[in-house]
Order: sequence, then structure tokens, then C-alpha cells
Amino acid sequence: MATTTAEREQWGSQLGFVLAAAGSAIGLGNIWRFPYLAGEGGGGAFVLIYLLCVGLIGMPYLYAELSLGRNSQRNPVGAIKSVTGSGSLWVLVGGFCVLAGFIILSYYSVVAGWAVGYAVKDVIAPSMGFEAFAASPWMVIGLLGVFLLLTFLVVAGGVEEGIERWAKILLPILFVLILLIIFRAVTLEGAMEGLAFYLVPDFDAITFDLVIAALGQAFFTLSLGMGAMITYGSYLPKQEDIALSGTYVVLFNTVIALMAGLMIFPAIFATGADPATGPALVFVVLPEVFAQMPLGGLVSVLFFLLLSIAALTSSISLLEVVVSYFVDEKQWSRQKAVWLIGAAVFLMAIPSALSQGAAGTFSDMSYLFGDGGLFGQNNFLGILDYLIGSAGLAVGAFFLSVFISWVWGADRAADEMEMGGSILSPGLLTAWTFMMRYVIPVVVFGIVMGYAFGIL
Ligand code: PHE
Repeated sequence: MATTTAEREQWGSQLGFVLAAAGSAIGLGNIWRFPYLAGEGGGGAFVLIYLLCVGLIGMPYLYAELSLGRNSQRNPVGAIKSVTGSGSLWVLVGGFCVLAGFIILSYYSVVAGWAVGYAVKDVIAPSMGFEAFAASPWMVIGLLGVFLLLTFLVVAGGVEEGIERWAKILLPILFVLILLIIFRAVTLEGAMEGLAFYLVPDFDAITFDLVIAALGQAFFTLSLGMGAMITYGSYLPKQEDIALSGTYVVLFNTVIALMAGLMIFPAIFATGADPATGPALVFVVLPEVFAQMPLGGLVSVLFFLLLSIAALTSSISLLEVVVSYFVDEKQWSRQKAVWLIGAAVFLMAIPSALSQGAAGTFSDMSYLFGDGGLFGQNNFLGILDYLIGSAGLAVGAFFLSVFISWVWGADRAADEMEMGGSILSPGLLTAWTFMMRYVIPVVVFGIVMGYAFGIL
């Protein structure tokens, strides 16, 4: 047995937990990925389906990950072992979670490093376009290093003194920054057209692909499918109400995603840019948009600062999954785990950092996957994001939901939720166990198949 529960670190308060978990959820997913998916997916139609996926699938499944974490007081591997013992094949699902945390952190930090770079771009590379910027090896590796170092320092501080404390400082700043930018965006001439595109759904735009993309985004944005919420739940005191805290996390995360759209689409339409630009949307289109608007220089700095902060509170949770595994299962000290794993993450991130034009070997991997790439992706970062960050999370969520509902037992999870008192009435809890057993695994299996057939 690893450290006993008595010694295990815990969140200092419910607010602290909610902010830390909301910090994990709110990230590049909300401010970089959600707007470009919505832009490609026809605006309001995508937003509507996304909201349904978050509320009907993401939120109930989030309660399940939190319950397993709190019940076992362990990292994802330890949590599964606490149910099955160590010889079971299910332990591999926990192993997948830890590996996914490691891999997602590696490429996530590259994009986060760009955000840091863009926040200080006037100082480090004033006239460089995005393509040249992303292809400058030393610049991107340096920025990646800076971003990772911040992540390591916070996680090295521990659960309450590091993660919780910084979430309490950073999230309010993020909120104020986003409000400032929205105010600037919606007061631009022509902003209303952007708001209409974003808020009024066009029902003809709803396709099967759009539903898969929206559900995948719901998992990514709530940090589900790879045990981050198992890990954060493992530090929850027994008296906390899981459903209540989880609901706050979903609400905060949704509000921030919606606000991200409110700041981005009015600005895009006001300047006549194309909302369907894809992943480059915030790095290529927004700087052009900012350049055309009064006070744009300041708005640009604030926007990329905001993006860096959002990414930081998420990268912390990715690292914590891996760190908690080595602390619980291998009895490493937190310091040893942070710095050793940190060094490995940095090395693993280098091919992703070089994959946007700096090194042909990683930018164009058609020598391995042919001209069409792997599911349309042919650079290292894109391939990892597709395999682990999109399809992988769906596969992880499928196995974890089956594990929680059928191996551990949905009623045990419900008992765990009732422990601290629950805002869910007994009837709702029964409905929740039904959803967990029969609805969620089936729907998630549907997305897994969607990915498997490369429909996206
Ligand atoms: N939820 C984070 C975001 O939206 C990404 C993330 C995924 C973090 C999985 C942790 C685990 O950016």
C-alpha cells in the first residue's frame, strides 16, 4: 500500500477545489479550440449541440470520475487497483490515463508556449508572422521551456499550497481579462453580425460529424477521459458534495467557453475575417483583427496573457495526474516526481515544438502515413492531438465509464456521492445511475466508432 489516506494531501476548501478543477477544465480548449470548432461548424448550431453534450453526457460522467477518485483516494491506476486488485487488465486503463496525461501535456505546452510568446510578441518578435514564428526552433523551444517551468513550480508546491493557491489567484484574473475584451469586441462597429452567427443556430448545419466533434470537445474541455478528474477528486474531503462541486465546475467552464465566443466572433465579423479558419484562428486571424481596432495592441497583449493563464491551470492538472501516479504507486517524493517527469515531458515536447515548420521530419510525416496523413493530420503535434487528445479521450471515457458503472458499480458511485450530502434528490440519483449504466457508455461507444471509421 502506498501512503495512507491520513497523510494524503487535500483541498483546503470547497471553493479551492472548484476553482482548481474549473482551472483544469478552462484552458486552450475553451479559448482556442471551441471558437475554431464553432467557426467551422456553422456557429450557433455547433454551440447548441455542444451545450447539450456538456449537460447531458459530460456533467454526469464528470460526477463519476470524481466519485471514483474520492472513494479510492488514489491516482487513476491506484483507483482502479483499489477495485480490482493489481493483476487485472483494467489497470491498463489507468496506465492509459497516466500516459495520456504525459502526452497531452507535451503538445499542449507547445501551443501554450506560443500564447506566452504572443503575449510578449512586440518585445521578442514584433514583425514576425505566425508561420515564421511557429517555425523558429529556438523561439518555440524556449517558450515551451518557460511555460513548462511555470507548470512545474506550481505542481511542486503541492495540492493546497501550489495548485489551489494559484487557481485562486489566476482564475479571477482570467475572468476580468475576458470581460475587458468582450466589452471591446461587442462595441466594435459590425459586431452584431458576429453575435448572430454565434448565437442563432442554423439547424441545417447539424450533421453527424458535427455531433461527434461537439461530444469530443465536451470531453476535452471538461478534462474527462484521462483521469484528471479522478486525480482531483482524490483530494476531495469526504464531506464535500460531489454533484454540487461538479456542477459548479461545468457552469464555470461553460460560461468561459461562451464568453470566449463572445469576444472572438464579434471581432472577426467586424473586421471581415473568416470564422472558419481552423486551428490557426486565434494566432493568425485575431492578431490581424486586433491590428485593425482601436486599442488593439493592448487588447492583443491581454488576450494572449489570458490564453497563457488558462493553459497554465490546465497543464497543472495534466502534470498532476502523472505526478500522483509516481507519488502513490512508486513512493516518489513530489519534488522528485515533478522534476524527473518534467524533464521527460520537455524532451517529449520537442518534436511537437518542431512540427510546425521548424523540422521537416516532424512537420510533414507523409513518409510514414502517406499524402493524406493519419486521419488528415500529417504533423507530429496534430497526430498526437488527434490520437490522444480527441480519439484517445473518447476511448478512455468509454472504458472508464464501463469500469465505473459495471465493475466498480454505479450504485457504489452513487453512495459515494451521497456521502457528503447531495443536491441530487434520491430520484435524480437513480436517474443518474441509469444514465451511467445504459446511456453514457453507449453514446461514448458511438463516438469511438465515429473516430474508428475516420468519419471526422
Ligand atoms: N480541459 C483542458 C482545456 O480545455 C484540457 C485538458 C484535457 C486538461 C484533459 C486536462 C485533461 O484546455
